[in-house]
Amino acid sequence: MTSDNRTVQYLEPMESKEAVGRAAELFVDTFRTAPAGVWSAPGRVNLIGEHTDYNAGLCLPIALPHRTYIALSPRKDRLVRLVSDMGNREMTTVDLEGLEALGVEGWAAYPAGVAWALREDGFAGVQGFDAAFVSCVPVGGGLSSSAAMTCSTALALDDVYDLGFGGTDAGRVKLIDAAKRAENEMAGASTGGLDQNASMRCKANRALLLDCRPELDAVQSAQQEPFNLGALGLELLVVDTQATHQLNDGQYAQRRSTCEEAARILHVDNLRVTADQIAASADPFQALKETLDALPDPTMKKRVRHVVTEIFRVRSFVRAFASGDTVEAGRLFNASHDSLAADYEVTVPELDVAVDVARHHGVYGARMTGGGFGGSIIALVEQGSGRTIAQAIADEFAHRGFAAPRALPVAASDSARREA
Ligand code: GLA
Repeated sequence: MTSDNRTVQYLEPMESKEAVGRAAELFVDTFRTAPAGVWSAPGRVNLIGEHTDYNAGLCLPIALPHRTYIALSPRKDRLVRLVSDMGNREMTTVDLEGLEALGVEGWAAYPAGVAWALREDGFAGVQGFDAAFVSCVPVGGGLSSSAAMTCSTALALDDVYDLGFGGTDAGRVKLIDAAKRAENEMAGASTGGLDQNASMRCKANRALLLDCRPELDAVQSAQQEPFNLGALGLELLVVDTQATHQLNDGQYAQRRSTCEEAARILHVDNLRVTADQIAASADPFQALKETLDALPDPTMKKRVRHVVTEIFRVRSFVRAFASGDTVEAGRLFNASHDSLAADYEVTVPELDVAVDVARHHGVYGARMTGGGFGGSIIALVEQGSGRTIAQAIADEFAHRGFAAPRALPVAASDSARREA
C-alpha cells in the first residue's frame, strides 16, 4: 500500500429508530409542528438485467438496507414544502395548482412530481404536503436514490390521503406508476420501472424477478426468488465508484430511443418480443444473427444484441443461482458487464477498473449495476473476502487519481413501509 492510500470507507445503513428521529426532528425544526408520520423506502441493487426494463424485459433487483426516510403531513392547500438533509436544509416550495410537466427544477421535482402524478391520474383528493427527508442512499451512486425518494413519498401520500394502495402488491403497482411518472414527466429522466418496482415490492432475503411486459398484471409481473448468499458461502460486494451518474443528461434517453427505433424496424412492440422469438427458435444463435442482419446501423445492432442477450442472462442467472451454481452465476455477471461495456457503451473508466480489480482478486464475477455512466459495481465474492477486494479497488483508484470509492454492506431488505 502506498502512502496516499487510505482504508476504504464503508457506508453503513442508518438504524431505523435513529433515522425516524432525525426525519421527525428536521420536520419540526422546519415546519414548527410534529409530522403525521414517518415512512421509508429503500435504494436497490440490480443483480442482473440492465437496460432491459424499458424493453419489456426481465430484471432481478434486491432492496438495500440503505433507505430514505420521509416525515410528512398533509396540507389543506396545494402547496408542497420540502426540506432534505441531502442538500442545504433550506425549504423549497412548489405549488401544485396549475403545475405542468417539467415545471419543477432540481430535486423537488421528484416528491412534488408524485403528488402531481397522482392528481393527474384522477386522485383529486391529493393535496399539498410538508415533508422532511433524511437518507443514507448515496445520491448519484446508481443505487436508486430517486426511487427511494419518490416511493417513500408515494407511500406516505397513499396513507395520509387514504388512497388504499399501499397495503397490497397490486395497489403498490399503482403507486409505482405515479413514482415513475414523477421521474419521467416532472424530473425529465426517461427511466423504466426497475427502480420503483424494487423499492416498492422487494422482500427481505428475496430477489425480485421482475417481468416488465406491459400486458402483465401485478401477480404475473413479479416473482420472489430466494436470495440467501450465506447458504452458498457468498457475499455480495457493492462499491460506489463515486463517478457521478445522471440519467437526465440525454445518454440514457438516447439508448432508449435506439431500442424503440430497432423495435419499429423489426415490426415488434418491443425488444422483449424479439428476445422471445429468438429464444423459441430452433437455432437461437442463427436467429440472433438474422435479427441483427436486419438492422441498418452498427450501433443499433450492438444495442439490440445487449438487450436480447441480457434478457437471456437473467433467466440463466436465476437458474444458476437456484441450483447453487456460483461459478455460472459469476460468469453471467461478467458477461453482463462486458456486454454493457462493449455493446451498450454505458460504462466509464471507474466502473471498468473497479470490475477489473475485483476480477483479479478471485471473485466469481463482477459487473456494473444500474444505469451506468458512473455509479456502482457489484461482485459475487467468497464470504469474508469483500473488504479485502473493496480495499484493492480503493488502492487502485488512489493510484489512478480517481475519487475514493466507498463500499456498502448489503443484505436483501424490505420494500417501502410506514415507520412511525
Ligand atoms: C436506471 C433506470 C432503470 C433501468 C436501469 C438500467 O437505474 O432508472 O429504469 O433502466 O437504469 O437497468
